[in-house]
Formats: sequence, C-alpha cells, structure tokens
Amino acid sequence: MSKSPIDPPQTLPWVGDLPGHVLMIEQTKLPQFEELEVHDVPGMFDAILRLAVRGAPAIGVAAAFGVLLGAQQRLQADSQTALDATLADCAELARSRPTAVNLFWALDRMEKAARNAHSRGLAGLEYARHLQSEAMEIYEGDRRTCRLMGEAGAQFIESGMTLLTHCNAGALATAGMGTALAPIYTAHAQGKNLRVFADETRPLLQGSRITAWELDRAGIDVTVITDGMAAKVMQEGRVDAIFVGSDRIAANGDVCNKIGTYGLALAAQYHKVPFYVVAPLSTIDVSLPDGSGIPIEERDREEIAFGLGRQTVPTGVQVYNPAFDVTPAAWVTAIITEVAVLKNPDEAQIRAALAAG
Ligand code: MRU
Repeated sequence: MSKSPIDPPQTLPWVGDLPGHVLMIEQTKLPQFEELEVHDVPGMFDAILRLAVRGAPAIGVAAAFGVLLGAQQRLQADSQTALDATLADCAELARSRPTAVNLFWALDRMEKAARNAHSRGLAGLEYARHLQSEAMEIYEGDRRTCRLMGEAGAQFIESGMTLLTHCNAGALATAGMGTALAPIYTAHAQGKNLRVFADETRPLLQGSRITAWELDRAGIDVTVITDGMAAKVMQEGRVDAIFVGSDRIAANGDVCNKIGTYGLALAAQYHKVPFYVVAPLSTIDVSLPDGSGIPIEERDREEIAFGLGRQTVPTGVQVYNPAFDVTPAAWVTAIITEVAVLKNPDEAQIRAALAAG
C-alpha cells in the first residue's frame, strides 16, 4: 500500500500532436529549473551532445523523438524520399554519443518502423504517424519499464537503510521514474524510511545537481558527498546498499556506467556492501562478449579544466576525461531489470532475461 504517490519530473514529453515538439528539462542548468523546446533533428543532436538530455534511457527516447521531428517536417515527401531522409536522420543522431546502447536500440527501432512504413507505401502524414506510434511506444515503454524495475528493486530496501547512488539514474535519466532511483522512489512510496548519499559525480556533477534535486523534490532525505568520500562513508559502516544505473551491459554481465562507478564497486566489494545495477533490457548489448569492447566516450578537456565556473587546471596541462568505466560482473550483487532480477549475473541469465523480455 503506497503512502505517498510517485510524481517524477517530466524529462522530455512530446507536446502536441503532429506537428509537435519535445519539451525538455534543460539538464545542464539544474538545479536551476529551465525548459528547452526541441523542434528539429539538429536541435535534438545538440541537446544530446551538450547533455541537456542525458542518461541512457532518456537519450534513447530523445533520439526516437528526434527521428519523428525530422519526419514531421517532410509531410510533402514521397515514400522513398521520406525513408531516405529518415535513414540520414538516424545516422546523424547515432553520432551524438557513443556509449549508451539505448540510443542505438531506439534508432534501430525507428529505422525498422520507417522501412516498414515505406514497404507499405506510406507517405506524408501517414508515414509520420507510423513513426509517431513507434516513438510513443518507446516513450511509454520506458515509463512502464521504470515502474517494473522500481517494484522489483524495492524488495531489497528495508526501512531505516542508507543507500548510495552515483551520477543520475533517476527520472531525469529516463521518461519515467528512473532506473537506479526507481526502487528508491518505490520504497519511499511504500512508507519505508530511507536516507541516500548522492555522489557529486565529477566532472559534470549529475549527482549533486540532478540526483539531489530530484530526490529532494520528492521529499527523500539526501546528502551530497564528493566522489572521493564514498569509500569513507562505506568504511564508516554508513552504507547499506548501492544502487546505480548503466549505459551498456555486455553479454557476460560487465556493467558500463558513469566514470567513478568502477571505484565505487571496488570499495563496495571490500566493505561487503551490496552493489545493485538497475537497468532495462534495452541497456544490454549481447553483441559484446564482455565489457572490454564497450566504446567509452571521451569528452572535452574544458569540462575538467573549467568545470566549476573558473579555471581549475593550469593552461597547457593535459587532461584525460573518459565519461564512463566498466565494472566486472563478478562485483555486481544483482542486475535488476523489468523482467527479472539477475543475482550474480552471468551470460546464461542475461540471455534468459532477453528471451523473456
Ligand atoms: O553522461 P550521462 O549523464 O549521460 O551519464 C549517465 C549515467 O552514467 C547513468 O548512470 C546511466 O545512463 C544510467 S541512467 C538510467
């Protein structure tokens, strides 16, 4: 029985019918609340690249909406011209960010929908409607998936626990209530008393700017720590469990997530703190046997050298800025998906979950 309803912020709803647009929360500005209207493919590409929208499931939905924004601008085109342009839009949006596989998963679905519309001879508004229904299914599917992961994950949270999370795998990273934060929202709504440590998450501070914003908004007791403090709070015995999301999970269960996750998992392993990864099936990439093949995005020097509003690295000094790292499957207590909880995850369980999904 729920005590309080879950009312997550709406990260990227589609507004209007056709033509419509996407109304995003501009995440680079949080905790200052600003909105951003996105009307076309270049606008969506830019929003994903700049991290105005970010988080693996959210950028999948954003890419799907980007394809729809392109299609609705070509209502006069014949079926072949519309398909060619959609394929070009998919290729363009695929260049935005390399690591989160959800982006490619969503673009693949949109491409299939476009080919299907073309094979049926659809053009103009009918062609765009076909893509609209696929994009909306991706959006609604993500919302459903978040709810299911929330229910599955809440069983591991008992009243009185203190949890730790890294980066933002909450509502702002999805179309729904999040991945790693979904069990936390669900447990809170069930009346469980919780505390959360949110890692600041250098260099772009998704933990302190975004996770702390959305947990505080929901009335959940949240404390921000810098990334370097996580091991200390574990050493002090103050963390009962860790919940993180993922950008890509390889066939053997290796988990790619925001830079810093690997170190967190290492400390959790040492301190015997359960380490849960909450991710939808769309985050699993069985084409990669293990995490070594996951493409890791490297971002601009400026994010570190000028990240806090002033110069923080001497001019001319080199900076290395990988945005993600890979945690071995052996250190993951369980991967919580929308169809199953994979304890001590391995390839057999991952393939079974995909078959069930
Ligand atoms: O660079 P970001 O902010 O897109 O990175 C996001 C993360 O690493 C999240 O933890 C991950 O995408 C899971 S989100 C549900």
